Amino acid sequence: MKNNPKAFKAVANVVVEKLADYLSKSQAGQGKVLVQKPIAELAELMQLEKWIQTGGFTPQAAGGFLDAYLPNTQHLHHPHYIGHQVAVPHVASGMADFIHGVINSPASMYEMSPSTIAIEQVIVNWMLAKVGWFKGMKLSDMETIAGNGGGILTHGGSAANLTALLAARAAISPDAWVEGAPNDLVVLGSEVAHYSIARAISIMGMGKKAMLPVAVNDWEVLKPEDLMPVYQRAKEAGKRVMAVVANACATSTGLYDPIDEIGHFCKENDLWFHVDGAHGASALVSPTERHFLKGVKRANSLVWDTHKMMQTSTLCAAVLFKDYQTLNTTFQQKGSYLFHDKEAIGRDTITHSLECTKAGIGTKLFWVLAAEGEQGMANFIDNQYQNTRQFRQIINEHADFNCPYVPESNILCFQYIKFGTGNEFQLTLRNEIVQRGNFYITSSEVKGVRYLRLTVINPLTAASHIRDLMEEIIEVAVDLQKK
Ligand SMILES: Cc1ncc(COP(=O)(O)O)c(C=O)c1O
Repeated sequence: MKNNPKAFKAVANVVVEKLADYLSKSQAGQGKVLVQKPIAELAELMQLEKWIQTGGFTPQAAGGFLDAYLPNTQHLHHPHYIGHQVAVPHVASGMADFIHGVINSPASMYEMSPSTIAIEQVIVNWMLAKVGWFKGMKLSDMETIAGNGGGILTHGGSAANLTALLAARAAISPDAWVEGAPNDLVVLGSEVAHYSIARAISIMGMGKKAMLPVAVNDWEVLKPEDLMPVYQRAKEAGKRVMAVVANACATSTGLYDPIDEIGHFCKENDLWFHVDGAHGASALVSPTERHFLKGVKRANSLVWDTHKMMQTSTLCAAVLFKDYQTLNTTFQQKGSYLFHDKEAIGRDTITHSLECTKAGIGTKLFWVLAAEGEQGMANFIDNQYQNTRQFRQIINEHADFNCPYVPESNILCFQYIKFGTGNEFQLTLRNEIVQRGNFYITSSEVKGVRYLRLTVINPLTAASHIRDLMEEIIEVAVDLQKK
């Protein structure tokens, strides 16, 4: 395959045909959702060594390769994919990836791709508007208006959480960038905050012990009444609170922390409020579901992944700030070959971003929104949230299943209880189901108790699929009992 337009068209046609076939079979629920062959066997099947050593991938050979590659991927478009918080991508997002792959349009410096950066900025403005932090008249307003928020897209929620906490540190301790992290800084946060929060704190040199856990209830929702005692103890120990972190929503159960109440606490005590909305901030797009984030406007920073609930492929996340000035204080660094003074045309993101080179990730969300419109995105989120509530009812109607809490998002935990509720049994059930490959689900521990876990992220997953899943679980459980 040559690197020229003629070869490009020839191979693209083959790839599009193969992908369209994959999509149509997956969406129709044909075949297994997941097949896991041994890794060495798979490497042989795809003839990886041969292709690496000899090259010579023709369009026809690429087609043969895809025949080995595609069946051995996770089939996210299959309605039985009810697993991780990873989007079932809209084909429009795929187009953005495809274009980016051909032209390589990074979004770090305006002069490296003006149109890509314009898209990122408008996407950020759109997200800011959903939070209530955008003061412009139209999304293409790029001026920094008093009271306006600001934001940046990052490669994932973990990088976004790190950026938000760096911003919080710069606010309370502007010298930390040069002098290092003072040892009196602590972060208060949900005891089930996503691990990327603790990781960020360690990366920042504050030590894991700087994360002070605030208790959660049985279903992982932060207890606001525990904030004051933890805060008091920190103060008595001579600590300064750098940030308070809330979940919107909790990774295991999908339930939202009381954002409004935590926001009040932070305001009264003059504390930086960070909302980790990696999964659940997308509800802001839905007029019916956005109430779960009531009070988010009071936060200082918000993380929002689009590759979870916004139908974009991995990765695209946003870190948003109530005050755009935050962008200028977070990274206090200059690199002469990138940050030299120049006539400013457009806008660089590099000075505000953890990454140096960054892909044009905003184009993914733009393409999906351009295909479906805001209303289409809101309908998608409504549909997934409503279906999850309905699926809970269906599961609970069966005497041998228990789904203990009312879901607030599209994440649902439940157990098959006929043969007991033991952790090991639930985990074995899950593993056996995944091994069979007819359904893909996950499992999670909530307060030490193991549950089967669904993320209802595929718009094609319907009540009938949940009933089929329940039958499969019963069959597997009975088989396990016989062993
Ligand atoms: C609440 C929360 N925060 C952060 C993350 C990390 O996001 P990413 O996988 O995009 O790095 C996750 C991932 O599941 C999450 O659930």
